Amino acid sequence: MAQSSQAGSPTTSDFYRRWLGPVLSRDEGLDAEQLSRSALTALGQASLRRGWPGISTVLNGVATELQRRDLRLEQVLFGCRFSNPVGLAAGFDKNGVAAGIWDCFGFGFAELGTVTWHGQPGNPRPRLFRLAAEQAALNRMGFNNDGAKALLKTLERQRLAPSGKRPAVLGINFGKSKVTPLDQAADDYAASLEVLAPLADYAVINVSSPNTPGLRDLQDTAHLRWLVERLRRLPACPPLLVKIAPDLEDEAIDGIARLAFEEGLAGVIAVNTSLDRLGLEQRRLPQTGRPLAEEPGGLSGCPLKPRALEVIRRLRAGAGPALPLIGVGGIDSAEAAWERMVAGASLIQLYTGWIFQGPDLVPAILEGLLLQLDRHGLRSITEAVGSGLPWQD
Ligand code: FNR
Repeated sequence: MAQSSQAGSPTTSDFYRRWLGPVLSRDEGLDAEQLSRSALTALGQASLRRGWPGISTVLNGVATELQRRDLRLEQVLFGCRFSNPVGLAAGFDKNGVAAGIWDCFGFGFAELGTVTWHGQPGNPRPRLFRLAAEQAALNRMGFNNDGAKALLKTLERQRLAPSGKRPAVLGINFGKSKVTPLDQAADDYAASLEVLAPLADYAVINVSSPNTPGLRDLQDTAHLRWLVERLRRLPACPPLLVKIAPDLEDEAIDGIARLAFEEGLAGVIAVNTSLDRLGLEQRRLPQTGRPLAEEPGGLSGCPLKPRALEVIRRLRAGAGPALPLIGVGGIDSAEAAWERMVAGASLIQLYTGWIFQGPDLVPAILEGLLLQLDRHGLRSITEAVGSGLPWQD
């Protein structure tokens, strides 16, 4: 397990549990978005000033508590060296404010964004809801972000190490601006990617968020091919991945696996939040009094786990071992991470589970993965990927 507190020196995890545990155990109370914003403001300041003595001491303490370094967890995928397979999913650090310090939290990679070409405010609030009993969330943020040029400035201000020399790999996730019509989407994605390509270790084409009208139509293979081919024509294009929805029909998933192969995509990220209510149709949001069946937005967290696993299995069956997959959706334990990786995901990402469980979820997963490697006599995490090996208690 993650390090426990020494007498008199509370850890990040102790702090998280004590102060945020009571808040996170209730749907109501402190607004979920406000909570994330406050945390990001503090993290953003820390990232900008991470060389300052007091701040670097704190960050080193956090890193000592949460990082787990082990060569068996390393992988090189699409030209990037990942120190471990656990990443922060897109949507938490939309504006990249804490890009310089995600490694301190134990992550092997972090995905910034979704960023759009035009900065935009997103949907009216409230737009992010905790479903505490189900360890889930409903969000209809609508790609609120400061825009691609602002993200570039924010990243430049943090003086990040150059690509390839960073302690954590940095991906950037790209979406379509709300004001851009669907038939001009390719140019909109291309404009953002052109500006940010020099800073991205990899780029994600997000065609799966449920909160931008029409966006998911871009998941059909003709549209996707058009998008990928447009982005490929840029003077510099980082490894390109596509992020897909959990609500696709199985045949559509097979189509994406084929397209990934034909277009030489670097990988597929599965999955985004779901429009399906996954058994929670009648669950009411206390803030609005309405059941989830009547609430717009995407569902994330624990209820998404079975479908997210199925999609990874389907992609692996369709694309084979050569296509790197990133598994995301409902991962809240080492066992869930292992299950996703042996089903075919080379990397996994966390969002809702990380919020509910707290920062020691990352070291708990890394330690759990290492223990499974020992139990199965495997030399590295690469051997576990797609192996189908069971979790052994
Ligand atoms: C997200 N997610 C998301 N994904 C994305 O590609 N771009 C984005 O901007 C966002 N924004 C976002 C906001 C909030 C509040 C949540 C909860 C989620 C989706 C996220 O990256 C992930 O795919 C899903 O949440 C499923 O993973 P979890 O949360 O079940 O671990």
